[in-house]
Amino acid sequence: MSGHVKPNPKTTGGSKMPTHTSSFITLPQAIGQTPLLLIKSLSHLLKQNIYLKAEFLNPGGSVKDRAALSMIQSAFDQGQIKSHISTLYEGTAGNTGIGLAMLAAHYHLGCHIFMPNNQSQEKIDLIRAYGAEVTLVPPTGFSDPNHFYHQAKNKASQDSNGYWVNQFENPNNYLAHYNTTGPEIYSQCPLIDVFACSAGTGGTIGGVSSFLKGVSLSQSQSQNSQMSPLHINHNPPSQLPSNQIKCYLIDPYGSGLYSWYHNQEFKSSGSSVTEGIGIMRLTENFKQAKLDGAIQVTDTETFSMLEFLAHNEGLFVGPSAALNLFGLSKLAIADEQKNKSYVTIGCDLGTRYQSKLFSQSWLEKNNLNNLPPLSKLLGLF
Ligand SMILES: Cc1ncc(COP(=O)(O)O)c(C=O)c1O
Repeated sequence: MSGHVKPNPKTTGGSKMPTHTSSFITLPQAIGQTPLLLIKSLSHLLKQNIYLKAEFLNPGGSVKDRAALSMIQSAFDQGQIKSHISTLYEGTAGNTGIGLAMLAAHYHLGCHIFMPNNQSQEKIDLIRAYGAEVTLVPPTGFSDPNHFYHQAKNKASQDSNGYWVNQFENPNNYLAHYNTTGPEIYSQCPLIDVFACSAGTGGTIGGVSSFLKGVSLSQSQSQNSQMSPLHINHNPPSQLPSNQIKCYLIDPYGSGLYSWYHNQEFKSSGSSVTEGIGIMRLTENFKQAKLDGAIQVTDTETFSMLEFLAHNEGLFVGPSAALNLFGLSKLAIADEQKNKSYVTIGCDLGTRYQSKLFSQSWLEKNNLNNLPPLSKLLGLF
């Protein structure tokens, strides 16, 4: 999504601008084009090439900046929102709220976020730091009208200038990943064999797996997030990948997607402290996912991976990225062929959860202190 634009003398101060600063981008254009990191420690251990798409380098610090930008762009394009007038309303575990609040500030929109009150304080604080309003609601089942999703929707309907973003059902969420994340991964790793990741709304896995499986969208669909007056640079790939790349869902316990994939019913067992992933219903975005399989990962496995990466790679990722890398490692170990290319998503960083991750009492309460070594959990030694 990034690219270089010519400075506009009217907006940059005309002749007073030093001429050598002729190459710059604006904040929305800094979203996307993230590096693909080779995780050397894991690649060495597993004898596979393990890659992490560094989505935590987006300006809002997570993979959800892409979806936030795409959904806002589309709403501008379709005349559903106007700067200085409209207010965005959304229910979120936090990262979409951060992306929306950041872009709302940039485009002079109001922003009101509804979040469950058990999410990390860092995410809540950051949304408020961008000037958005945050309403915390008790975590509750989806059928409860007090669920953050319904509260955001209701509040938007009471505001004549309100716009409910609806990331779970909004197709511009998965289209952001079909149009940008998927093509970027493919161009950074043309020999990719396997892609796997978890799902919150399903936007990432829906869009990336559709692209990697060579699904061709109708022109009107794929244009949704490309033809924008906001001029986000985007170079659609000239060729879609052939259908050889395997795609898998990695699900935390407490989520129903794993059982839905295997038995077409939403059943869950156990629970998870991970944030932003796992869901108990079929969303429009997850429906787009093209999957070859689904696996589950425990919190113990996730946190052992998180610690391993911090100590052996110098990478302090958030829990969903650690879960992604544990699941990817399981798939890579089960593969009899070695030296293949495995890719997943680095959704955000551990610093976004530091009030939990750095708290001994929180770790003890969740049985996440004294973790078994990663190699043992992966059955390597
Ligand atoms: C930390 C984290 N990881 C992963 C995801 C899942 O992304 P998606 O909504 O595209 O499925 C989210 C979504 O909010 C998230 O916050």
